[in-house]
Amino acid sequence: MSKIAVLGYGVVGSGVVELFYKNKESILKKAGKDADIKYILDIRDFSDSPYSEKFTKDINDIVNDDEVTIVAECMGGATFAYDFVKACLLKGKNVSTSNKELVAKKGAELLAIAKEKNCNFFFEASVGGAIPIIRPLHKCLAANQITQIAGILNGTTNFILGKMINDSMDFSDALKMAQELGYAEKDPTADVEGHDACRKICILSSLITGKHIYPENVYTKGITEISLRDVKLAEKFGAAIKLIASVRKLDNGKIIPMVMPMLVQYESLISRVDDVFNAVMVCGDGIDRAMFYGRGAGKLPTASAVLGDVIEQLKTEGSGTDMAQTWVDCDNSEIVADYKENACRMYFRVTGGKDLMPAGSEIVENGDELVFVTEKMTFAESEKLEAAFTAAGAEVKAKLAVLDM
Ligand code: HSE
Repeated sequence: MSKIAVLGYGVVGSGVVELFYKNKESILKKAGKDADIKYILDIRDFSDSPYSEKFTKDINDIVNDDEVTIVAECMGGATFAYDFVKACLLKGKNVSTSNKELVAKKGAELLAIAKEKNCNFFFEASVGGAIPIIRPLHKCLAANQITQIAGILNGTTNFILGKMINDSMDFSDALKMAQELGYAEKDPTADVEGHDACRKICILSSLITGKHIYPENVYTKGITEISLRDVKLAEKFGAAIKLIASVRKLDNGKIIPMVMPMLVQYESLISRVDDVFNAVMVCGDGIDRAMFYGRGAGKLPTASAVLGDVIEQLKTEGSGTDMAQTWVDCDNSEIVADYKENACRMYFRVTGGKDLMPAGSEIVENGDELVFVTEKMTFAESEKLEAAFTAAGAEVKAKLAVLDM
């Protein structure tokens, strides 16, 4: 019988245990073997829990128990989780994680250890919560050259933006609600400043390039500067403002990963993704495009993805490392292009300097403020235009890119 350890009994870890026992019979049938959870690691006291006998506060109980061959890491963070996952992999244990910070920061190193020890480091739950995206990318879509990925990868910010737009709820109340529902990170600045979405696009970028893309090399902007005025003007233009994480492959083989709030026109399916839902649009030379949609955060949706990996590990343990789901370390300056090379239509809200509006722009509003959307221009050109408005004594109140997929 295979023995499983769950690291962390917070929102996701408790969901993993709950869903495992709820569906144990069918899970084991699909895995084709018998298995049970032997340990749950958490420093807190859970003596009232029906699983109280499984709790330990000492990672060494798990690391040194050869019966444990599968570990589900649901602690979050890249300090203790890193040490514990590394220790488990070094012992040849298969690890599944929901921890995007860990994968985005330490993925190359942990994948290399897994390869050396002939085991697997899986992370389906690290991107898009319940949405199957990691395995589809390297298995079902493996025949494609992936050219672009864009989508909504943070449930908390999508939930907050939705509450602001539809219920006129203010930012802090919406954030509080997202925290109560278990969507937000322990430190919600990671959500609202775009760091969580950045980690997720790093993971997808690493997967499609085979090279580790580090968060510090990704242009990242969160939603804290989004005003209700721009939300309403976006509606007038026929678009919703969404926090978009994207990566585009250039003809020279380099990529441009980025995270920023963007105007998404209503013709795009992504504009219709509301609440805590995530969506990932993938473009490839065979598929044209495919969209993946589902709950991007929350207890059981994330647990579902963790357990999907656990089942895969139960099925494949002992048969080596899955080399399709891996990447290697690299100097990011060789592969990540400057975001300023990226080109989009640009939304501007300015006071003054009306003669500087580029020809071909679409006017959204022309009153005290001039609101317009340009034709496609590079981010470098948009910054020059912004500087020209400022130099002319005008004020650029808002500038946002428009998603083109
Ligand atoms: N805080 C994350 C989100 C949790 O809101 O999407 C899931 O990764």
